[in-house]
Amino acid sequence: MKKLSVAILGFGTVGQGVRDVLCNHQDRLKEIAGIPVEISTILIKHPEKHHTKAPHVRFTTDFQSVLDDPAIDVVFEAIVGKEPAYSYLRQCIIAGKHVITANKEMFQAHGQELKQLAAEYDVGIGFDATTAGGIPIIQTIQHLLQVNKINRVQAILNGTSNYILTDMRENGSTFDDALLKAQSLGYAESDPTNDIEGYDALYKLKILCELIFDEQPVWEHVKCVGISQISAKAIKQEAASGNRIKHIAEIALTEGAITANIAPKSVSAEHPLYAIEGVNNAIHMKTDIIGDLTLSGPGAGAFPTASAMVEDFCHIVNKHMKAEGKVTTIAYS
Ligand SMILES: NC(=O)c1ccc[n+]([C@@H]2O[C@H](COP(=O)([O-])OP(=O)(O)OC[C@H]3O[C@@H](n4cnc5c(N)ncnc54)[C@H](OP(=O)(O)O)[C@@H]3O)[C@@H](O)[C@H]2O)c1
Repeated sequence: MKKLSVAILGFGTVGQGVRDVLCNHQDRLKEIAGIPVEISTILIKHPEKHHTKAPHVRFTTDFQSVLDDPAIDVVFEAIVGKEPAYSYLRQCIIAGKHVITANKEMFQAHGQELKQLAAEYDVGIGFDATTAGGIPIIQTIQHLLQVNKINRVQAILNGTSNYILTDMRENGSTFDDALLKAQSLGYAESDPTNDIEGYDALYKLKILCELIFDEQPVWEHVKCVGISQISAKAIKQEAASGNRIKHIAEIALTEGAITANIAPKSVSAEHPLYAIEGVNNAIHMKTDIIGDLTLSGPGAGAFPTASAMVEDFCHIVNKHMKAEGKVTTIAYS
């Protein structure tokens, strides 16, 4: 029987989440694709770490074998860092494979080139999981921009920072204690620099900025402040006056110029991001037709992120693969 064959690059938190979602929702995926969806290959770096191997799935450290396999139509990428992820996806696109990535560090640097290359080779490229985890923000913005103009975005884009600020306010924790808790719960990396110094939010803001405005400010001139200098005293003082400190990433188009800013800010109860707590993320947009719109939800984690990637996969199946005649819709009576 014909199958739709996919590969997963990277098999950590996100890669395993993608494997689980693809395996646990076979019936739904078959309805969409018209044929079974099968994981044929998983690319890893350290084979000694991966003992539980699924039957019929090839675990390999050899990227060339993924590239050279003509049966693989779609590649999910969940590796950390710019390289080799960028080179791998570039080669996959040139080989005519559709690609889906969760890798924000790579995509904020190379997203524009990869999108252009995908258009040139007429393949799909999904990157919803790069920004705000399970919140379908990229596809929502692409949909909105057909008619609306988005003038301003204010967002909480880093779940670890939001968790730390919430814990400091609710439990009176010091910054260091709240960070330790975030690490023990698996929210923060062992090296939390990107989260607490604002760089992770900056990566995601760059991806949003390019998508919304199709241009970028001079990022070297943009203020990027994290939460590492926030004291328990400052949080308590703000709370006493009914306010909350939130780490807010912001872009706006004002008089033809794009401005951006990433910093902790005090917000009052009326602010749309005031109620976003714990590891959640949220994006508040000002649009010219709908008006104000806020999306919120889990910003990271295996299943929210895998969900965003598999939603991208379904979009690619519907938009590209049905037109190519590679898959068909199952007709139900
Ligand atoms: N975790 C989240 O909640 C989340 C949310 C949104 C986006 N993301 C993004 O998703 C990506 C993956 O994150 P993660 O949390 O799943 O990371 P992770 O748990 O550290 O897993 C990374 C995986 O990539 C593999 N890998 C690293 N270098 C490789 C190489 N050169 N060739 C092949 N495989 C390689 C590793 O292989 P070994 O296992 O063999 O070492 C590992 O399986 C990152 O770009 C991250 O920013 C993560």
